[in-house]
Amino acid sequence: MPELIPVLKREDIEESTASVARQISAAYNGHKLVLVGVLKGAFIFLADLARRLTIPVEIDFVRAASYGSGTTSTGKIELTKGIDIDIEGKDVLVVEDIVDSGLTLAYLVNYLKTFRPATVRVCTLLDKLERRQSNVKVDYACHTIEKGFLVGYGLDYDEAYRELPAIYHLKFQ
Ligand code: IMP
Ligand code: MG
Repeated sequence: MPELIPVLKREDIEESTASVARQISAAYNGHKLVLVGVLKGAFIFLADLARRLTIPVEIDFVRAASYGSGTTSTGKIELTKGIDIDIEGKDVLVVEDIVDSGLTLAYLVNYLKTFRPATVRVCTLLDKLERRQSNVKVDYACHTIEKGFLVGYGLDYDEAYRELPAIYHLKFQ
């Protein structure tokens, strides 16, 4: 059984989410903002972030599958759920759980741009720097992590651990 090592407490996540929500609320004040959550991992973060914003937003979700096994992605990405709402001329904020290689995000940003939104920016709960392979820009990050495989607060390993209220490093023996 892998070991769960605490990395971020519930209070750490609450604090950073509140701070990022204040920045986003200020930056987009008076704009038509659409939050596009990336399923499944971002569902908890998006729910908490949205409730801390002080501006009205529309919410949609996309889902991308990256074919790989275990804890790394292959870079071969397929869109398995596209957007449903019209984002043309609107400001879009992609809401991710974690940016690792950045390949999924780069793919999704390109996909969203085909609908001609006014802007597309990115907000992630965790920005993991070690394996970045794309120069996609992360505009808002709640926490920066050097390396390791993380679970909890929406993030899974083989569909397990999403329900944990805090974030852990999953250590394989
Ligand atoms: P990327 O394309 O390599 O940036 O990977 C992005 C996706 O892989 C994330 O949205 C997660 O769903 C998943 N992922 C990457 N690193 C982790 C991790 O440490 N824990 C859980 N999922 C991860
Ligand atoms: Mg994800």
